[in-house]
Amino acid sequence: MIRIAIVYHSETGNTRRMAELVREGCLRIEGVEARTMPVEEIDREYLAGAHALLLGCPTYEGSPSWQMKRFLDTVEVDLAGKLGGVFVSQNWPGGGGADFAEVVLIAGMLVRGMLIYSGGITKGYPYLHFGAVSSRSPEGLYAERCVKLGENISSKAKELFG
Ligand SMILES: Cc1cc2nc3c(=O)[nH]c(=O)nc-3n(C[C@H](O)[C@H](O)[C@H](O)COP(=O)(O)O)c2cc1C
Repeated sequence: MIRIAIVYHSETGNTRRMAELVREGCLRIEGVEARTMPVEEIDREYLAGAHALLLGCPTYEGSPSWQMKRFLDTVEVDLAGKLGGVFVSQNWPGGGGADFAEVVLIAGMLVRGMLIYSGGITKGYPYLHFGAVSSRSPEGLYAERCVKLGENISSKAKELFG
């Protein structure tokens, strides 16, 4: 069984909803289990055994929320060799900084020895770039991209670790 952990920070629910959609996408692939967990309540045992880790958070001042940054800075679980992906919520479409926040998360995950993946534009429409981005509540195309990210990570994790 492939195990995927989806760790998110969310104050007003937008990123939590994204995390649920990402999980929905993960579960589209047979033989995969996926669990969402708020960054304040990490199941360290599950995280340690996970093949893939998705991180999601809101954009704060054009960067990842400090709560998620603190997680990356301080998590004691060994993340090396796990497949990783990201999703970020912002308020302002067309320039709120979510893309940059994703790149910062990706940088932290690389430093931890993780293998980063989104599927990019190679998986067809709706196109993903660095990860899934949503403005405010994830609906329509924003929601579809979250599901797609989950599916892409899930199938790649199965290919690598199954
Ligand atoms: C301290 C703070 C800083 C924020 N900075 C930005 C920002 O730079 N760009 C932006 O688009 N939204 C910004 N926002 C809005 C949040 O990213 C947005 O409302 C997000 O959807 C909240 O996610 P959540 O519901 O999961 O908490 C900020 C919100 C807070 C509280």
